[in-house]
Amino acid sequence: MVRAISYKYKWLRGLDVNWNKLYQLCLQGDGRKVGEWFGNCVKKGGSMSVKVEQKQIPVDEIKHYLMVNKSLTSINNISEFSKKICEKAVHFCIYDGGILMGFMACYFNHPAKLFGFITTISVGKSYQNIGLGGSLLKASIEYAVKNKFEKLRLEVNVDNLIAIRLYEKFGFAKIETLKNSLILETVIKNPMF
Ligand SMILES: CC(C)(COP(=O)(O)OP(=O)(O)OC[C@H]1O[C@@H](n2cnc3c(N)ncnc32)[C@H](O)[C@@H]1OP(=O)(O)O)[C@@H](O)C(=O)NCCC(=O)NCCS
Repeated sequence: MVRAISYKYKWLRGLDVNWNKLYQLCLQGDGRKVGEWFGNCVKKGGSMSVKVEQKQIPVDEIKHYLMVNKSLTSINNISEFSKKICEKAVHFCIYDGGILMGFMACYFNHPAKLFGFITTISVGKSYQNIGLGGSLLKASIEYAVKNKFEKLRLEVNVDNLIAIRLYEKFGFAKIETLKNSLILETVIKNPMF
């Protein structure tokens, strides 16, 4: 069983994990609890290092990820959206073995490089709250710095307090209020990490 769990969570191998506790959580079948518990272990032991890959992934893989994680997105036409971000956005991915567990797509096509725009960011439910969202954001900020973009923007639903809190940690602040959402921006000349 332990081997099966460590196979499933390949990216956590090598960490000091209480496998018995994990086994009990797995028996309860609640992926989120497993994620939260792992997160606490990892946070206690210091910052977590995950590999964020900046690589363009095919439209079918984007579509599949968004369909599987449909509850994480408010996008209506997933096919059309996947096609658009496949063609026009820069992709950032975190894999667990072959499985995409976190995905972010950003437009870096402003002609004067005034700002990049994070059009989607999501982490699979059972992998949330262990720092992956933060790792994706950090990667986009690093990309923006490297490519000499001045700012990074995004739109977030006013109710999405978890995401807003995460963005604030990375220096994002409100620049505009829309009907049900906020536009946040961070100046990335001086990243906060
Ligand atoms: C927003 C999202 C990408 C964050 O990803 P994540 O991997 O969980 O983020 P992190 O673990 O890096 O950090 C999240 C912060 O929010 C908090 N958080 C995350 N999940 C939480 C939960 N279920 N309950 C309470 N707080 C939570 C964490 O405490 C953390 O802050 P901390 O480091 O100060 O403790 C993820 O929740 C998600 O995919 N949500 C659904 C899609 C979405 O809303 N995307 C944003 C659209 S604008």
